[in-house]
Amino acid sequence: MKLRKEEERYLRQVLNAYLTTPVAQKMKEFSQHGTTSTFDHCYAVCQTCLWINRRIRLHAKEKVMLRAAFLHDFYLYDWHDPDSSHRWHGFTHAELASDNAKRYFSLGESEREIIRCHMWPLNITRVPQSREAWLVCLADKICCVREFFQRKAGAYLCF
Ligand SMILES: [Fe+2]
Ligand SMILES: [Fe+2]
Repeated sequence: MKLRKEEERYLRQVLNAYLTTPVAQKMKEFSQHGTTSTFDHCYAVCQTCLWINRRIRLHAKEKVMLRAAFLHDFYLYDWHDPDSSHRWHGFTHAELASDNAKRYFSLGESEREIIRCHMWPLNITRVPQSREAWLVCLADKICCVREFFQRKAGAYLCF
């Protein structure tokens, strides 16, 4: 699932307003799965959904999809911390990430809805409603599995 150089350039151009901001950079401080930071996980989800959209020609709205993909786990804490406020992390963080995306980047309703649905089927009532939402939801699962096995193998597994 490797993007071509021009696709990688396009991705960075779309995310240009977010990537270097201090609040987005803060995601580098939190571990997502194993040695992968939340920032790297979110960026990998962007690469994965763009790759699927381009290769299978699904014609999803890429800018909306990529903005939502980058901020889908923008909850800004380490869910491994044994803090009682994180106890229901799996069920609550999508809503929090959506709120943060609005608060810090004024993200629109289309993107926020994609973020809110990314934890389906765990959040069973939040079924993705658009092609873009399904792609982010799927790409997130692919990246989670890949990161899990990277941790197990201690090496990079190329999908
Ligand atoms: Fe998530
Ligand atoms: Fe995620």
